[in-house]
Amino acid sequence: MNDLSTQIPAIDLDAVTNPIASSRGMPGRAYTDPQLFEFERDQVLGKTWAGLAFASELPLNGSLLPVDFMGLPLLVTRDQQGEINVFHNVCRHRGMTLVAAAQDHARGVRCPYHSWFYDLNGNLKTTPHIGGHGTHTADGFSCADNNLKSVRSHTWMGVIFINLSADGEDFADFIGPLEQRWTPFMGSAGVSQLTPSSAQGAIEIEVAANWKLAVENYCEAYHLPWVHPALNSYSPLDKHYNIIAADNMSGQGSLAYTLCEVAGTELPQFGDWPQEQLRHAEYISLYPNVLLGLQVDHAFAMILQPVAADKTIEKLQISYLDDGAESNHYQVSRDAVVDSWQQVFGEDIFAVEGMQNARRSPGFDGGVFSPVQDIPSHHFHGWVADRYKQGQQPV
Ligand code: FES
Ligand SMILES: [Fe+2]
Repeated sequence: MNDLSTQIPAIDLDAVTNPIASSRGMPGRAYTDPQLFEFERDQVLGKTWAGLAFASELPLNGSLLPVDFMGLPLLVTRDQQGEINVFHNVCRHRGMTLVAAAQDHARGVRCPYHSWFYDLNGNLKTTPHIGGHGTHTADGFSCADNNLKSVRSHTWMGVIFINLSADGEDFADFIGPLEQRWTPFMGSAGVSQLTPSSAQGAIEIEVAANWKLAVENYCEAYHLPWVHPALNSYSPLDKHYNIIAADNMSGQGSLAYTLCEVAGTELPQFGDWPQEQLRHAEYISLYPNVLLGLQVDHAFAMILQPVAADKTIEKLQISYLDDGAESNHYQVSRDAVVDSWQQVFGEDIFAVEGMQNARRSPGFDGGVFSPVQDIPSHHFHGWVADRYKQGQQPV
């Protein structure tokens, strides 16, 4: 990991962590500076559990998926038992990139340079001709000392999370507050009841905006009447409330989500969901880069894949209950759900790109917050500023 902390000119982080009435947002540089993008990889996203990819992107045992994580080449594998592992996509010999494109049916990972071969769990198995022609071992060389470098990972709600720091918190501690919050809706079986729809579940949008703008835009419902008039008609602003679920998550909830009535959808529902709260829905930004939505009959996860300071790929996967994900019987309902979210996230593009564009202006000073409507966004800014402060501390 690079430690760029000494190169970062001062940003007034205290102004960001002030109480909301007297605080400013993160300054424009935090959205435009490539050096800060790298700093965030190492000191913000890299210090906690970040969303990397969907497990469904590795459909088979033996699937391989290379992913560029903010400039770091990573490799996700699904082994013969179906377990997912994440490694640095770097050969232990001379540092060749191991896998350039997604594959299925792989028995392992063969380096294209000198053909060293690793199994799907990253164990180095064969090193052809390492000891001279026809000699596949070498004195003093141990395969066991040269396995692929692994990255901690955990799959939850179909999202493969990674933690680049070796000493960060356990995933259970990271996700615990959210699971607790949603148990009254989902029941104790939680997200294990959900199945991603392979046919119509995935939406991918590239936005010319920093990843943080997508998070803070998702946190708040303030923009609903102007940016999402359709959504506002079946989930109106005045029926929304703010959520600060824990240090690392904030968002908003709706007491009147009625797509099923407006669009006539009919899908299997969570069995334990309270009958008097069928219109209840929650939208939570799980910092750093996963956006979650929960309704009685479907849930979704959006992974924000930061590509550059001013470019992000948003990947959305929608999941359903029971046979709701695949059965033809629910096709029309799934179409309506997908269309509704496609429209909402499509409508947000101009907002995040418009903010990105203005982040280069000397007229932007971090901005201010509505002391009521922007509470969830302010919470996110404070979390980011705290990570910046910790990253700047001398080692
Ligand atoms: S660099 Fe991979 S085998 Fe040589
Ligand atoms: Fe929006």
